[in-house]
Amino acid sequence: MISKKMNEVLNGQVNAELYSSYLYLSMSTWFSEKSLSGFAGWMRAQAQEELFHSVKILDYILERGGNIRLEAIEKPRESWSSPLEVLQETAGHEAKVTDLVNDLVDVALEERDHAASIFLQWFVAEQVEEEATVGEVVEKMKMIGDHSAGLFAMDMEMGKRVFTPPTE
Ligand code: FEO
Repeated sequence: MISKKMNEVLNGQVNAELYSSYLYLSMSTWFSEKSLSGFAGWMRAQAQEELFHSVKILDYILERGGNIRLEAIEKPRESWSSPLEVLQETAGHEAKVTDLVNDLVDVALEERDHAASIFLQWFVAEQVEEEATVGEVVEKMKMIGDHSAGLFAMDMEMGKRVFTPPTE
């Protein structure tokens, strides 16, 4: 049986992941409105990935006999000044999520909940990958600067991303 404290913080993360999904969906629609369909598709896949994270945690709480309390999801920002700003916000947001995941691991250790600690290792590794991926995109965007040909090529590259749910 999951402890009250572990249940509470994981329940909070269900909401945090849903907010991430909502934020990336908002970014995706912003890109669509700017006719950057590749970036829009990349952000759409990012939003789907966050929804997957949320449900993965929700399922874990249920599996451990805990309770789910779905809370209101905060309204996301809806406009940005440039594609680079969107990606920089994404990078900053992922760094915050990494902090949240680390806090969850701290609680698991405090509660001596080894099962939760093992479960959370997947998210620890996922954050390393997420931060690296978005960090690389930000660096490429900085190289492109104001060159529209570069932005066009980047849009094509971003459009190749497809969301596939992890199997394990
Ligand atoms: Fe669920 Fe992008 O971290």
